[in-house]
Parts: sequence; structure tokens; C-alpha cells
Amino acid sequence: MNGQAGQIAVLDFEPANEEFCEQVIAGLSQHPRTLPCKFFYDETGSALFSKICELPEYYITRTEMRILRESGSEIANALGRGIELIGLGTGAGTKTRILLDNLEAPVAYVPVDISREQLTQSTIVFRKKFPALEVLPVCADYLQPFDLPPRSGVANRTVVYFPGSTIGNLEPEDATQFLKKIAVIAGRGGALLMGVDLKKSKSILERAYNDSAGMTAQFNLNLLARANRELGSDFDLRGWRHRAIYNEKAGRIEMHLISLRPQTVNIADAAFSFAPGEHIITEFSYKYSPSEMIALAGAVGLRFEKIWTDEQKLFGLFLFVL
Ligand code: AVI
Repeated sequence: MNGQAGQIAVLDFEPANEEFCEQVIAGLSQHPRTLPCKFFYDETGSALFSKICELPEYYITRTEMRILRESGSEIANALGRGIELIGLGTGAGTKTRILLDNLEAPVAYVPVDISREQLTQSTIVFRKKFPALEVLPVCADYLQPFDLPPRSGVANRTVVYFPGSTIGNLEPEDATQFLKKIAVIAGRGGALLMGVDLKKSKSILERAYNDSAGMTAQFNLNLLARANRELGSDFDLRGWRHRAIYNEKAGRIEMHLISLRPQTVNIADAAFSFAPGEHIITEFSYKYSPSEMIALAGAVGLRFEKIWTDEQKLFGLFLFVL
């Protein structure tokens, strides 16, 4: 841990452990059984996700970064001068840094992320690299209500940056509700810059979520390991296997954990029995065509202005305005 980390004030809305316990028990009591994907990101899970982002098969992060690099000045022009940037789920801040490098005189940056460690570290880096920028980190599950800290400068425009195609991890109905909240944060005259994974072939998608190094499998299984660490449950990790499939009809990757044998798992006062082959759904990752995403955002008053994409049209950076 960096020596300055203790001096970084992080506005704190981090979910409590009881919430994890309640949601694990509620999810495993359903049929099909589920575990909420937002709990992937403890320290171990965040580190594993950073590794996933560098895998050859996982084109998402690399492609968004390439688009930001190649179209950075055009994007910055479209966003305007003297803006404040609210980053939702910006993690270590690697993409935001490319964006900020291109922006003209941004006044504030408010990263909102569930990972306190990454927020603290990225705040240290950003304050050093952009001394004129007010950096105000907020530790929160940004899908839940949270307050924005008071900013001291006056911005010309509020721009929300929602990178990484995290919108795809929400059911379309929840995605619509969430876009509505973003529209409120950005306000009149504001904008949303959002990274979205585009629809493509089943084989490219399934390779991205079943990587040959087994990193996504580790990331998925860490959810069970985290429950053991934090809730005292007794998942035997050798009794579970990772699988990701593309459900073409629903337009989504489905991540599962499959029970390899009959087994019973104890969590707090509850016990759950699993048959061999039974699965737990741990994550959906929806993929959108440009027209589908434009319609989804349009339904809550976010007007489409522009899309930046790569040559193969793997990924889109969409600009919506209010
Ligand atoms: C964060 N999110 C957009 C990732 C995705 O691609 O849906 C999470 C992830 N799951 C497996 N690999 C990456």
C-alpha cells in the first residue's frame, strides 16, 4: 500500500457485509440459483479482473482504450471545455486517464467505484498527474443511491463516463432505470459517454469469457471463495466448474458455476443442496447493436449524438446528450 493512501478521504457508501450475506442467501434460494455479480470485486476479484482485461481473448478493455487513444481529441471536442467528469465504475482509472489527457481544462473528476483500494490508489496518481483537477473519490455501489461530494469549481457541463460495457451486466429493464438516474446526474445540457460491447459472433464472445489461461474461471470461483472468507460458508472450490455461454436469443453471455457432484453448502444458518450439473448464474453480460442501445437510451430522453468504434466494430463508445 502506498504511504499516502491513509490521507485520501473517500466518501463512503460501501455495502456492508450483512448485505452480501442477505443477497447470497436470497440468490441461492431462487430457481435458477443466482449470485450477484457486483460481489466479484473484492481485492482478489478486482486484481483478477485487471488480469482478464489484459488477456488476448478479452478484447473489450483493449478495444475501448484504442478507441479512446485514436479518437481522444475528437471525443474531447465533443464533450467540451471546463467540464466535470463523473466516472462510474472507473476502477484503476486507466481509461479515464486517456480521456483526461485529452480534455481541455476539466475542473473536477469524481470517480465512483465499489473497490476502495483502486479508488485510493488512482486518486493518488490522478492528483499528482493533474494538479489543477479536483479529484473527489466516492466508494459506492453506484447502482444504489449515493450523493456526489460538493465540488469547489464551477463546471460548464457535467459529463458521466460509464466505461467497460458494465451497462451489459444489468438486465435491460434495470439498465433503463439506471440510464434514467444517469440522466438526472448529468442534468440539462449534460452528457453521457458510455462504452458498450457490440453484438458479434458467438465464437468470439465465448472465447472472451472462457479464456485459455483460466483467469475468468478463477474470477468466477472467487465469488465462492469470497463467501467462504467473509461469511464463513463452506463451498469446496474443487466441487465447482466455470462455464460461460452466449445465449444468442437473449443477446447475452451467461456465466455459470456448475456443481460437479452432489453437495451441501452451509452459509450462516442456511444449507443449500446442489445436484451434480446444477448451476448457479453469476453474471449476465448483454451485448447490444448500436440501434438497440440508441433505442434503450432514447427511451429515457438521452439523445444519441455520436458513436466511435473500432475497425471490426467490436466495441462502441456512445455519446448521448440531454
Ligand atoms: C465488468 N463487466 C463489463 C465484465 C463483462 O465483460 O461483462 C465482467 C466480466 N465477466 C467476465 N469477464 C469479465
